[in-house]
Amino acid sequence: MNDPAYNLTQIYPLKSGVERLTLTDFRNYAGLRLEAEVAPIIVYGENGSGKTNILEAISFLAPGRGLRGARLADIKRFIPQITGTSEISFISPLNWAVAAEIRCNEEILTIATAVEKSFRETEDADDSRAFERRVVKVDGNKLASQAELGRYFSAIWITPQMDRLFRGGSQPRRAFLDRLVYAFDTEHAKRTANFEHLYREWYRLIKEGKRDNHWLNALEEQMAATGVAIAAARREQVARLNAFIENEPDDIFPSVRLELDGVIERALDNKAAVEVEDEYRNMMQRQRRFVLENDNPDGINRTDFKVYFKRKGMPADLCSTGEQKSLLISILLAQTKCQTLHKGFAPVMLLDEVAAHLDDIKREALLEKIKNLNIQAWITTTDPQLFASIRNDAQFLKVKNNQVCPGGLF
Ligand SMILES: Nc1ncnc2c1ncn2[C@@H]1O[C@H](COP(=O)(O)OP(=O)(O)O)[C@@H](O)[C@H]1O
Ligand SMILES: [Mg+2]
Repeated sequence: MNDPAYNLTQIYPLKSGVERLTLTDFRNYAGLRLEAEVAPIIVYGENGSGKTNILEAISFLAPGRGLRGARLADIKRFIPQITGTSEISFISPLNWAVAAEIRCNEEILTIATAVEKSFRETEDADDSRAFERRVVKVDGNKLASQAELGRYFSAIWITPQMDRLFRGGSQPRRAFLDRLVYAFDTEHAKRTANFEHLYREWYRLIKEGKRDNHWLNALEEQMAATGVAIAAARREQVARLNAFIENEPDDIFPSVRLELDGVIERALDNKAAVEVEDEYRNMMQRQRRFVLENDNPDGINRTDFKVYFKRKGMPADLCSTGEQKSLLISILLAQTKCQTLHKGFAPVMLLDEVAAHLDDIKREALLEKIKNLNIQAWITTTDPQLFASIRNDAQFLKVKNNQVCPGGLF
């Protein structure tokens, strides 16, 4: 990338973000409406008041399972019923929905998402099971796939759970990277969902002893093709962000170096995609024999996304909690700038309790950057006074009693 030093606000003076949000039977909200500015938005209130739930709702305007990775069934509003002296049961006949008016530069569009029951044909024709899936409408038209949301809206987030992102198993890191790809490559969300589906089907056949070679071969063929496309898109995103960070290091947040550690991604270093596809297909075929003992066969579903604190040459998992948070912010900032330059609209940032591990200097620097980038960032906190320095540039929303009202600092 040879972009000279630039000022994004000059290149893209336009704004993107959520301007109106409506929640229906979504977690603790029976009905919530709020209006928002494309600016930093400080969402404050006591623990358990419903701050994170608002961010989660916004995350459902982008493809995927949202900021908590929740099961759809957990999201609809539960109404506790006190039936006896001590027993509590929950009823929830409700269907949740999130609707929003989105600004994407000069364009205003509505995105609505809700859960719909549909029926899946199973092998046994009498046993078609009901299952819930998330449907999405843009300006009233149902999208064939959630993935297409990536054309209009994207969100990136940091949550307290991500304090452990670099320490545990590789799945959340992969998911984190895959979400970064969605904004650049709309097909990626489709591919990752598709791969998961193919893999489950493949695993089920083997587990049930249905070693139908024809069917397994066909699944392996598709998994190999989809898997190589996933690996290639991940490689591209990692290269793009590394190049960007190399050229445009941040002045406050530490530069990161990103790496992929996966057999398929590595194979693409020096082989053509078709060749890697063949290898992947053969590998899956060999793994039929082991998959039941080793439930996670090798492939793109085992790739690790590695992050290094560049100047120190230190892997992120060995960095302090505060440093890890700063590394994540670095990635988010690079992604935001990169996306604005290449796609023409910025992602919305969802920063859940982000101030927790940041010192005053970093917190103030982050706010300054968000302001200068002209982006929308939803920032939750129990202590709005921490955000006093942007009192004139931010919108303050107070969350209380399952409602949100305009707040402020006094
Ligand atoms: N499906 C649900 N139905 C009703 N309430 C819920 C549901 N899921 C979570 N909650 C409640 O929502 C409240 C607010 O949660 P959250 O947004 O995480 O709070 P915080 O303001 O601390 O971020 C919690 O008290 C939680 O128990
Ligand atoms: Mg919270």
